[in-house]
Amino acid sequence: MKMLSEDLPVLKPIWNTDTMKHVRHWWVRRFSPRDRYTLTRFYRSPSQYDVLCRDVVPYLRPDGSEPPLTVACLGCSNGAEAYSIASVLKSSSYRGQFSVAAFDIDKELVARAATGRYFSPEIFKNPFITETFLQSTFERVDDRYLVRPEVKQHVRFAVQDILSDDMQQLGRFDIVYAQNILVNMPPALARRAFLNICQLLDERAALFVDGVDLGLKVRWTRRCGLRPVTTNMEEIYREAKEFLGEWPYWYSGLEPLAATRRDAAWRYATIFLKG
Ligand SMILES: C[S@@+](CC[C@H](N)C(=O)[O-])C[C@H]1O[C@@H](n2cnc3c(N)ncnc32)[C@H](O)[C@@H]1O
Repeated sequence: MKMLSEDLPVLKPIWNTDTMKHVRHWWVRRFSPRDRYTLTRFYRSPSQYDVLCRDVVPYLRPDGSEPPLTVACLGCSNGAEAYSIASVLKSSSYRGQFSVAAFDIDKELVARAATGRYFSPEIFKNPFITETFLQSTFERVDDRYLVRPEVKQHVRFAVQDILSDDMQQLGRFDIVYAQNILVNMPPALARRAFLNICQLLDERAALFVDGVDLGLKVRWTRRCGLRPVTTNMEEIYREAKEFLGEWPYWYSGLEPLAATRRDAAWRYATIFLKG
C-alpha cells in the first residue's frame, strides 16, 4: 500500500519541514506518558564541568575559599553525578572546602550510591570518560571500581522527594544540580518541582538544569530571575544529546539548536546564575 504522502506529493515537503517536526515533538510531549528513568553517567558533560570550574565557582567565591561551597545534587540516581561533581571540584584550582549533598526519591538507589562501588559498564558506557577523570575518581579493586576516599568523603546521600512540601528543610545551597529529572515528569509536576528547586538557591547561587522541557525552562528561569550562562552552551547541548531520545520522536529529545531565536540563551543554556 502506498504511503499517503506518495499519493499526495504536495504533502511530502510539508511533512518534512522543521515545522512539522516541531509539531510532532509537541504532540509527543503532550500525549506520551512520562516515566521515571534512572539513567545516569559519570562525567556526563565535560563541557559543563569545565564551566563549573572556570566560571561558576569563581563567581560564587571570587576572593578565596570561605565559606565552604555547598552543592545539592537532586535526582542523583546511583551517585555517578554527585561523585563526578566532587571529583571535578577536587581536581580543579578551587582550594576551599566543599560538600555535595545528594538526594533521590528511590531509597534502594540511595543505598547503592552510598557504597561508591561500580562495575565497569556503569563507567565506560560513555564516550566522554577520560583517563584523567578515571584516575582521579576511582581505585580499581578486582573487577570493581571504588570511588577514592578523598572524593567520597565530600559526598552524602539521603532520600528526598523533590515534590514534597518539606524541601525547604534541606536549607540553601550555593550550587543546585537538578538534571534529567524534570523532563520525566508531567508538566504540572515539573513546574511544582522547579519552584521547590529554586527555593534551595542561596542569594548568590547557580542552578544546573539540563533535561527539562525547553519551554518550561525559558518561562520559569525568567520568572525566578535567573540569568543564563552561555559559555560552552553549544558543546554542552551537543553532549546532552548523546544520552537522550531522538528528536522529535521522544519527549526527551532535543531539537536542533536555533541560535537565532530571541530566547536562545534561556532555551539552550543549562547553567543559570542567581544574584
Ligand atoms: C534520569 S535520572 C538522572 C540522574 C542524574 N541527575 C543525571 O543527570 O545523570 C533521574 C533520577 O531522578 C530521580 N527522581 C525522579 N523523581 C524524583 C523525585 N520526585 N524526587 C527525587 N528524585 C526523583 C529518579 O529516581 C532518578 O534516579
